[in-house]
Amino acid sequence: MSAPNKSYDPVEVEALKPEEIERMRDEALAAFEAAADLDALTHAKTAHTGPTSPLSLANREIGALPPQAKAEAGKRVGMARGAVNKALAARLAVLEAERDERVLVEEAVDVTLPYDRVPAGARHPLTTFMERVADVFVAMGYEVAEGPEVEAEWFNFDALNFVPDHPARQMQDTFFVQGADGKKTDESGVVLRTHTSPVQARALLERREPPVYVVCPGRVYRTDELDATHTPVFHQIELLAVDEGLTMADLKGTLDHMVQALFGEGVKTRLRPHYFPFTEPSAEMDMVCYVCRGESVGNPDRPCRTCGSEGWIELGGCGMVNPKVLTACGVDPEKYSGFAFGFGIERMLMFRHNVEDMRDMVEGDVRFTRPFGMEI
Ligand code: DAH
Repeated sequence: MSAPNKSYDPVEVEALKPEEIERMRDEALAAFEAAADLDALTHAKTAHTGPTSPLSLANREIGALPPQAKAEAGKRVGMARGAVNKALAARLAVLEAERDERVLVEEAVDVTLPYDRVPAGARHPLTTFMERVADVFVAMGYEVAEGPEVEAEWFNFDALNFVPDHPARQMQDTFFVQGADGKKTDESGVVLRTHTSPVQARALLERREPPVYVVCPGRVYRTDELDATHTPVFHQIELLAVDEGLTMADLKGTLDHMVQALFGEGVKTRLRPHYFPFTEPSAEMDMVCYVCRGESVGNPDRPCRTCGSEGWIELGGCGMVNPKVLTACGVDPEKYSGFAFGFGIERMLMFRHNVEDMRDMVEGDVRFTRPFGMEI
């Protein structure tokens, strides 16, 4: 900025000469016109109206003019700046309109296009069925309990009263996991759980004082080959109730309630004596075939595919919790008793839906899963 000068002639200040001001104005107008998009216009705006633009710098010179020259120079610069701002606003409006139009075209959505070319995913029928079974018990006040799939041998076998040389503990039945300490695999003390029953022991130890009412769904492992009726990875659901005064009648009533909730009114269960180390007495449980309701038995005219005309379908194992298991888990067997049962989800899904080959359940082909519905 020049210093104040009483004999100042505005025409002599280079930046304030009329032709200079006109040139600055015309350059600004040309720059705005040349700006092809909003970004370019922003640059041109800074260059031609910003604090260091030629017109702003010229404006600053006015302050140093003698009073009689100020009005003339101020008018000249003011008019030029007014024209520049007007041109800027006009160009801005044009470019914004262009942008809006382009966005409408580029971001247009064709709402008539088919929307379901890529079908939505859904959970596997095994998962949803397992949850449905668990829900039957949740509705009765049971809690869902889960345990690890890589399990301590102690929980999988010892706590459940399996003797040390029980055949299930052999490598040909059970996947042993290599121990971190480099011990031989079958001495590591770590297995892939072969059933969901270890969750019984965990639930008792975690909750300490009964009553304990838990339902334990989960994945289990055995060294089986994959074929029509076996898979090395499958699912079980386990139930455990420990309380004062529970009897086999409670077990039977609970089983009857479950099969009726899953298979319909009037479907009954029966118990056949059996042996499991962790229950005493133990039983295998069957349910009346929910399709023929027993009418196919001895009736060759009405064969039943679901039960093979047996009238009964085997469900799984059950019994009263062995007092030795209660003791191992810190529960007083003099005071408390319990019942438990466990069964395979795959098997139940197979006869519930006439699935003939277990491999269909693990291969992930949507032609198998889709008919079960798309529950998410
Ligand atoms: N864990 C047994 C199995 O995998 C099934 C079973 C039997 C579970 C009896 C139980 C039970 O809770 O009481 O073959």
